[in-house]
Amino acid sequence: VIETITTLPELRDRIAGWKRAGLRVGFVPTMGNLHAGHQSLVGIARGAADRVVASVFVNPTQFGPAEDFARYPRTPESDANGLASAGCDVLWLPSPETMYPLGIDNAVLVRVPGITDVLDGAHRPGHFDGVCTVVARLFNQVGPDVAVFGRKDYQQLAVIRHMVADLAFPIEVLAGETVREGDGLAMSSRNQYLSAEERAIAPEVHRTLLAMAADHGRGVEPAALEAEAVSRLEAAGFVVDYAVVRTPGLMQPVAGEPGPRVALVAARLGGTRLIDNLEFTGA
Ligand code: PAJ
Repeated sequence: VIETITTLPELRDRIAGWKRAGLRVGFVPTMGNLHAGHQSLVGIARGAADRVVASVFVNPTQFGPAEDFARYPRTPESDANGLASAGCDVLWLPSPETMYPLGIDNAVLVRVPGITDVLDGAHRPGHFDGVCTVVARLFNQVGPDVAVFGRKDYQQLAVIRHMVADLAFPIEVLAGETVREGDGLAMSSRNQYLSAEERAIAPEVHRTLLAMAADHGRGVEPAALEAEAVSRLEAAGFVVDYAVVRTPGLMQPVAGEPGPRVALVAARLGGTRLIDNLEFTGA
């Protein structure tokens, strides 16, 4: 059974007890509305640690003023059940006051430079500052030995790795594969915003990523295959934020040499913004 903890002294107490017993602590931060993607991360943490903490906190500082903070799905009871069945020991459920004791306007911010200027960072100004600001706090609250993040949010994972290295958090970061629905749609709490018609169109994001990787393998120039991806998504009814192929550092368009690549898409369908990516090896 899972224990839900809502105050910092209790959390510190529980974790200090584990550490005194020599147990390794794994951590999975989430914004709740649990799905099989989150549960797979708990499974990875279970395999890498003796005890697992997952947090649920819908973090206001990572949402833009026109974004979906107010309507983001909040499902605390089913989250606790889903985490318990995935093998999580403690659900950390901090209040906004615990997370931001001086209030949001007086909060110390954590900002990763460079990589947060591109792609989602460019389309969602301040988003990654909010993510780093809350993840740094969660790391200090939980003090895990290992933390697990999903590859679904490829750029977020890269930003967190940068923060952990630069601030010397003594935490090992592990990455979990993207968990998909049967038709290829990456699982996301935001999928439930989709109407039935939109839900039928949504897997086009994954199909477009597969086509981008295939085109790349066939020697199609990045600029051409990116333009093709945009037209394909627009024809399906999306408004496209970006559809690009990058090297893992994400900063530059792909240059000549073969090696690891990632295709990334962010596109809006009605009021829902979907992101997904596909890693492959480019010739
Ligand atoms: P959230 O969107 O709830 O995602 C929590 C974790 O689950 C992230 O590491 C995310 O990459 C991972 N995840 C989401 N969908 C997934 C899928 N289909 N397959 C595998 N993993 C998936 O990401 C956040 O919350 C927040 O930004 C957070 C890091 C908690 C900071 O507030």
